[in-house]
Amino acid sequence: MSSIIHRFGKVQSTNTLAMEMAIDGAEHAEVVLATEQLAGKGRSGRSWSSPYGGLYLSIILRPTLSMDELASLSPWSALALAKAIRKVCRLDPKVSWPNDVMILDKKVAGILLESSFSGGLLEYCVIGMGINSNLKIENLPSEVRDLSTTLLEQTKKPVDNEKLLNVLLVEFKQMYATLVNGESQALKEELANICSTLGRRVKVQTSSGTMKAKAVDITNLGELVVEDDNGAKHTITTGECIHLGEETE
Ligand code: BTN
Repeated sequence: MSSIIHRFGKVQSTNTLAMEMAIDGAEHAEVVLATEQLAGKGRSGRSWSSPYGGLYLSIILRPTLSMDELASLSPWSALALAKAIRKVCRLDPKVSWPNDVMILDKKVAGILLESSFSGGLLEYCVIGMGINSNLKIENLPSEVRDLSTTLLEQTKKPVDNEKLLNVLLVEFKQMYATLVNGESQALKEELANICSTLGRRVKVQTSSGTMKAKAVDITNLGELVVEDDNGAKHTITTGECIHLGEETE
């Protein structure tokens, strides 16, 4: 897996740029990096605030994966990101399923997977990662401050974004190799160990509806297994997942 890194200053969105570069023939594992985004995209149509100081990148992939394995790239990428943050910043990040990286229950990084298909076949996909690294909490919009944190705020010292990028790309490559070698059981075990969703009562919103249940396991495809109040188990492939406190149940 080569790592050509295309470096930019201000862009609209590294994911949008990476999708355009993929159309123009960019190769598997090329990376698009920016110091700032003017129209950073988050999941479910939300925006991703991307001021200078954060780390914003998108990895172009031309995977030979099944559709199920493709979806699993989101949680496995969150795992790789959490491991990189742990190594570089000596913090203890957790993954809130499916793909939010959290420190002390506040979001420090997010992942956006976008894919392009032709005639039912996957052509390429882009994994976008946004990390609140060298940001003060005041640099983020007031509406997300209460639910967010930054690496700077947690470590109380500047983060070496270049080192974080390099460690992240190494972790990502190892994760990807594990996946394509059919060893996702190992990823599942690692993720289960740092997944803050497991054991919690959650509200999951999928295309087929909303359900309140207890999160009990992760599958080898990175899916969430929940148990409803009747003891029936359900496997959630993708969707939004909110941790419920006692008072909101
Ligand atoms: C989320 O948690 O909502 C996902 C956030 C993903 C943000 C990253 S920043 C780099 C890449 N480019 C984008 O426009 N979005 C992703």
